Amino acid sequence: MKEFEDLVEKAKQMPVEDKHFMYKGIPYPSIVTSLETLQALDNFEARADDILLVSYPKCGFNWMLHIVNSLAITAGTTKKGNEILPPLLEFRKPEKLQVLSSTPSQRILGTHLHPDNLPNSFFEKKAKILTMIRNPKDAAVSFYHFLHSPFIGFNYTWDEFFSIFMEGKAPFGSYFDYISAWNKKINNENVHIVIYEELKKNMSEEVKKTAKFFNFTLTEEQIQSICSKSTFKSMKENSITTHGKFGTVTFRKGDIGDWKNCLTEEQSKAVDLKFEKHLAGTKIGDLLKY
Ligand code: A3P
Repeated sequence: MKEFEDLVEKAKQMPVEDKHFMYKGIPYPSIVTSLETLQALDNFEARADDILLVSYPKCGFNWMLHIVNSLAITAGTTKKGNEILPPLLEFRKPEKLQVLSSTPSQRILGTHLHPDNLPNSFFEKKAKILTMIRNPKDAAVSFYHFLHSPFIGFNYTWDEFFSIFMEGKAPFGSYFDYISAWNKKINNENVHIVIYEELKKNMSEEVKKTAKFFNFTLTEEQIQSICSKSTFKSMKENSITTHGKFGTVTFRKGDIGDWKNCLTEEQSKAVDLKFEKHLAGTKIGDLLKY
């Protein structure tokens, strides 16, 4: 965490044009990743028993990571204290990616990489992939607050960020392309989709489905215990320990529909139109109805 905080401090001094670089048509934040890392990731060796958590930024990645780590620790496939930090592959320097080759199984890894740019070995080895998705309006608002926080220090106005988000120029690219790309993989038996809004409304059902997908056998009591430690309130209370000074902004509100406090009617309609254009009639679009 300290290393990440130092990087962010350094990046705050960067001129704005240096804050992103393009790779395979997608803007990546130079604060946390590099061309060398993304190239090294092309050759990353996945294992059949790896778990890969994927999400577009601000769709509840940290929430799901906490749940999956808790499930794996309770099921005994990994040990407490062995959680992989940082979990996001692209946040590592190439040499730190190599360290992962000697990390014992079961590895729980994560990424915000566009699905078409994931290391192929995850698909070749048939590793299980959990995709966390959230409605675009709340994801955009959460992203704005994150980038705008004093710890990250982007000084966009909301309207500026909204344009960037809609044009696919936000860090990690277009939300809509990202979700459409996962829709193409939705029938892959090794891909499981969890919707933020469903997890919020019925955590225990979604956690049970997730446990089943990963073949973890847990008792009802164990599931309920994990759920009670995974509420927004509980995670926020622990966030200084788990996320240092990023705790406050990573666990900001945790609500469905905060977009109503931020988007104008016109902006809301623009998102609906784009959603229709990219996702209407798709399986993922139906799941994500907001
Ligand atoms: P908000 O900014 O809307 O509050 P990520 O982990 O992908 O960066 O996503 C962060 C978002 O997930 C934040 O949204 C955060 O509050 C929300 N979140 C994190 N843990 C949560 C939980 N246990 N329950 C509900 N939302 C949670």
